[in-house]
Order: sequence, then C-alpha cells, then structure tokens
Amino acid sequence: MYPRLCLFRGWLLLPPNDEVGKQLFLKGATPACAICHTLDAAGAAGAVGPSLTELQPDAARVLNALKNGIGQMPAYTSLTPEQMQILSEYVAKASRE
Ligand code: HEC
Repeated sequence: MYPRLCLFRGWLLLPPNDEVGKQLFLKGATPACAICHTLDAAGAAGAVGPSLTELQPDAARVLNALKNGIGQMPAYTSLTPEQMQILSEYVAKASRE
C-alpha cells in the first residue's frame, strides 16, 4: 500500500515536464530534434546540427532557435508556446546532465 501511495503522489504532484520535454525532443516535434542533434541525456546521437551536450545552450537560446529557425534548422511553428517552453527548459537542463 505505501509504495503504491508514493507512486501515485509522485505521479500526481510532480509535473513530469522533463519527461514531456524528452518526448518532444525524441519524437514529438516534427522533424524530431534527435534526427539532427546529439543530446546524451536523451540518448540522441544526430550529427547534422551541433551537439547540444557540448553547446549547452540556455533555455532562451533554444527558444530562439525553435521560434525562428537557424541555418538548416526549421522554425517549429506547429509547437504551442507551452510546448516550446517545456522543450527549451528540458534541453537547457539535459545538456548539462
Ligand atoms: C534538420 C536538422 C535539425 C533539426 C530537426 C533540428 N535542428 Fe537544431 N540545429 C540544426 C543546425 C544545422 C543548427 C546550427 C545552425 C547554425 O548555426 O547555422 C542547429 C542549431 C540548434 C541550436 C543552437 C542555436 C544557436 O543559437 O546556436 C539549438 C539550441 C537547437 N538547434 C535545438 C534544436 C531543437 C530543440 C530541435 C527540435 C525541436 C532541433 N534543434 C531540431 C539542425 C536541426
């Protein structure tokens, strides 16, 4: 009973933004970031764009790339502002793990 309660509380109370961000990175965003970028924490090993694990962009820099595109990278106009925010914060954090 007790472990199950903990699991339930964890699921209910902690917003799983990291998990949402990871899924957006791996497959939710189209085309998926992982096709082009390496991000060790997400198990991504794309080589078209810079390695985000090495670049370690802050969230504002990621957000800018998502909104406007940069070089060969398209703008992600189909993502909602909230998805962009979650994804940006995830990449900033995961690149430093
Ligand atoms: C088609 C391949 C491609 C995809 C898909 C892609 N990128 Fe990129 N990305 C690039 C390339 C190439 C660059 C380098 C652009 C340049 O500096 O000219 C880049 C640059 C970046 C940068 C650095 C921006 C800067 O200010 O230097 C970030 C952060 C980034 N991408 C995040 C993402 C995220 C998050 C996604 C998924 C939503 C994504 N990328 C999807 C190719 C891609």
